[in-house]
Amino acid sequence: MSELNNIALKILENGKGILAADESTATMTKRLNSVNVPSTPENRLSFRETLFSSSSMNECIGGVILYDETIRQTSSKKNTIPELISNTGSFPGIKVDTGAKVLAGSPEEKVTEGLDGLRDRLKEYHKLGAKFTKWRGVYNISKNYPSKLSIHSNAHALARYSSLVQECNMVPIVEPEVLMEGYHSAKECLKITSEVIKKCFEELIIQKVDLKGIILKPNMILAGDKSKEKISNEEVAKLTLECLKTSVPSDVPGIAFLSGGQSEVEATENLNLINKHNNTNFIMSYSYGRALQQSALKHWSKDIHNIEGTQKIFNHRAEMNTLAAQGKWSKDLEI
Ligand code: G3H
Repeated sequence: MSELNNIALKILENGKGILAADESTATMTKRLNSVNVPSTPENRLSFRETLFSSSSMNECIGGVILYDETIRQTSSKKNTIPELISNTGSFPGIKVDTGAKVLAGSPEEKVTEGLDGLRDRLKEYHKLGAKFTKWRGVYNISKNYPSKLSIHSNAHALARYSSLVQECNMVPIVEPEVLMEGYHSAKECLKITSEVIKKCFEELIIQKVDLKGIILKPNMILAGDKSKEKISNEEVAKLTLECLKTSVPSDVPGIAFLSGGQSEVEATENLNLINKHNNTNFIMSYSYGRALQQSALKHWSKDIHNIEGTQKIFNHRAEMNTLAAQGKWSKDLEI
C-alpha cells in the first residue's frame, strides 16, 4: 500500500473524520465578531487549542485542517500546533489555496488561486509537520452558471495543486464545492455536482495524480437554500450516493463531506443516512467546519476560560458525526 493511501485511510478509519479549522483570518474574524469576541491571534489560538486538546481527538478526529497562522503557533504547553495534534494520534493538515478570485472571462464566477510558488510553500508546510492539504474550488448554481470555463478552470487548478502536493509526499484533499445558496432544485444540484466532479477527475488523471492517495471533499446533494423545494433527508442521501457512484473512480479511498451551511444535526443526520445506504466501496465521512464548531464557539464565547465546558460540547458533536460516519447515529443520542 502506498504511503499516501495509508495516510488517507488512517485519517478516515473507524468512523473518524476531519475537523476543518482552516478559516482564514478574515473568516475567523467574522465568526468571532458574531459572538462578540475580539479577533486577536491569541483568541483565535485559544479557541482552536481548546478544540485540539479535546478528548474526542483520539477516537473521532483523524485529521485537522489548519490555516497558515495556526500551523506556526505554539500551544499554552509550548508544543507546536502540529505536535499538539499529532500527539492525539490525529494528522495535521493545511489549507494551501489563497482564495477564490474573480474568473477572467466570466467575472460573475470565481477561480481559486495559489499555484504560483506552491511547491516551495508545500515544502515548508511539510517541514512544519503537515501530512495532508486542502484546496477548495467554488461554484454557484444559477440560470447560466456554472459556466464550462469555471468548471474547467477550477478542475485544472485542483489537479495541478494535487500533483504538486503528492510530489511533496502529502495527501491532497480535493474540494469542489457547489454552493447551497440559490434557487436551484436538488435535481439541478445533482446534475451540476456530477459534472463538476467528473471534470475534476478528468484533470486529475491528466496531471497523473495517484487517485489512491487523495481524499475527495464534495458537497451533499441539496436543494438551494432559496428554493421552495423541500426534500427529505432520505432523498438527500439517495441523490448524494447516486452522484458519487457515477462520478468518482473506484480507486479513491475516501470521501469526506463539507457541511456547507447545513445545521449541525442536519449534517449529522444526512451523513448517517448516506452511510446506512452506502452501496459503494468508498469510506463516507465528514470534514466539517461550521457543523463541528458552531455550538462549541457559542459556548466558548460566554466564558473563554471554561475549557471543559466547550470541550464537552465539541466532543459531543465529534462523537455524533463519528457514529454517523458508521451509520450508527440516531436522533435520541442528541442532547
Ligand atoms: O472549505 C470549507 C470547509 O473546509 C468546510 O466548512 O463544513 O463549514 O462548509 P463547512
